[in-house]
Amino acid sequence: MEYFDVINKRYSCREFLDKKISRDELNKVLEAGIIAPTAVNYQPERIIVIEDSELLTKLALATKYTFGAKTILCVIHDTTESWHRYRDNRDFGTFDSAICVTHMALAATDLGLGTCIVCSMDEAKVKELLNLDDRFIVDALLPIGYPKNPGKHAKRKNLDEIVDYR
Ligand SMILES: Cc1cc2nc3c(=O)[nH]c(=O)nc-3n(C[C@H](O)[C@H](O)[C@H](O)COP(=O)(O)O)c2cc1C
Repeated sequence: MEYFDVINKRYSCREFLDKKISRDELNKVLEAGIIAPTAVNYQPERIIVIEDSELLTKLALATKYTFGAKTILCVIHDTTESWHRYRDNRDFGTFDSAICVTHMALAATDLGLGTCIVCSMDEAKVKELLNLDDRFIVDALLPIGYPKNPGKHAKRKNLDEIVDYR
């Protein structure tokens, strides 16, 4: 697919077929994620592929936004590896994870798969479930699967409401 077709076709898919994506498709999506740029190329992000049905059921107790997906990618970052801006110590790890998630969502679109970026969750519960210690921040979940129905992205503001020339 052309790049501009991919970015226009991506939308938040919230209904999936009851079928797991193939290993080949998953690997392509993961490769797209790890090619994403990170601050200073520190690559603090980690992607946990959640496929185990018991774990998926437990994850649904930490967020209502799993949409019954058979595969959920959990993108976290290690705060001891992420770049912290010298002046104010701001941690850019979540920024890195966001780009990684975006790359994966767009790659999934290109493969005809659906995704939804999910940040509404009980982070403490997710960390407990995945045995993550305090170094880690859970940045997003990405349910991924075959869309049940065709979908479209939501309406956007106009360019002049967002872009300002000075
Ligand atoms: C940072 C972020 C967090 C989001 N968290 C959730 C979420 O917790 N649950 C959900 O259903 N959608 C979530 N979304 C999806 C947005 O609601 C969606 O992208 C937005 O409404 C625009 O729709 P579209 O993706 O179809 O264009 C999130 C998206 C982003 C970028």
